[in-house]
Amino acid sequence: MRVPAKLNLQLAVGPPRADGYHGLVTVFHAVSLFDEITVELAARDAVRVTGEGADRVPEDQDNLALRAVAALRAMLPRRAAAARTGGVHVTIAKRIPVAAGLAGGSADAAAALVACNELWGAGLSQQRLTEVAAAVGSDVAFALVGGTAVGRGRGEQLTPALVPATQYHWVLAFADGQLSTPAVYAALDRLRAQKQKSAAAEPGLDAALMSALRSGDARRVAVRLSNDLQPAALSLFPALRKTLAAGLELGALGALVAGSGPTCAFLAANAERALELAVSLSGAGVCRSVARVAGPVPGAGLLTD
Ligand code: C5P
Repeated sequence: MRVPAKLNLQLAVGPPRADGYHGLVTVFHAVSLFDEITVELAARDAVRVTGEGADRVPEDQDNLALRAVAALRAMLPRRAAAARTGGVHVTIAKRIPVAAGLAGGSADAAAALVACNELWGAGLSQQRLTEVAAAVGSDVAFALVGGTAVGRGRGEQLTPALVPATQYHWVLAFADGQLSTPAVYAALDRLRAQKQKSAAAEPGLDAALMSALRSGDARRVAVRLSNDLQPAALSLFPALRKTLAAGLELGALGALVAGSGPTCAFLAANAERALELAVSLSGAGVCRSVARVAGPVPGAGLLTD
């Protein structure tokens, strides 16, 4: 199977909730940077990770893909013998960098869910799979569906966005280092506490961004990109300021930190501009490496070749 990374074209974050999560409104956008996942029936559950950043991914029950397998198994009726008696071997070939703000771990979990649902003949509906996904992580449900979708709650309540089939061309700048998602949310709470006496406002969907997406005009989309986590990510990883500025200087229509970072995403006018930007950004010495991607792309699916 293959499963895409995500960007957040808008990420509006509210105050912390009683359960420690933050209420948010986000516009998810799946892009063509994929992890490849293979799932086979086996005596017991195991996971093996290769590729980009593999040494930083746990190869035990803490692995998000194995957590997804366990969550799905727990949902199945007793008669689902294959799931109850046997395990699965999950092999993950990573191309989505780890702890980069691109929801790579959530993507792997989503792929494992779809694969086990098939392998076990469990027959869970998309709706039920989405519920299991939401219990595994905030971004897992989106990785199931892909495309462009509005996420609410902690990001797990999804509504597909009604947008034309326009492809957007992005350049991703991968940083030398990681950011922990909880640490970035905590930094945002601290920054907000310093700045204002009242609590953060409830987040709302950016109507101008949605209108820009419906127009399919990359220039209009570029000026509406927003991420409430960006100041927090920049406070923890100040070098990203230089990366963002360099991308804009080199011709990007818009720039933002991807999710909780530290990856930076740049929207280009078209495929040629994206290629030029990728070449000049990688020469500018402001990031570890770059990738050109396009979006939207579908969520977790079978890899056919
Ligand atoms: O759900 P997931 O495991 O991906 O979230 C990782 C961490 O990010 C959470 O433990 C929480 O600290 C933070 N988070 C949050 N609000 C969200 C999503 C994530 O505070 N809506």
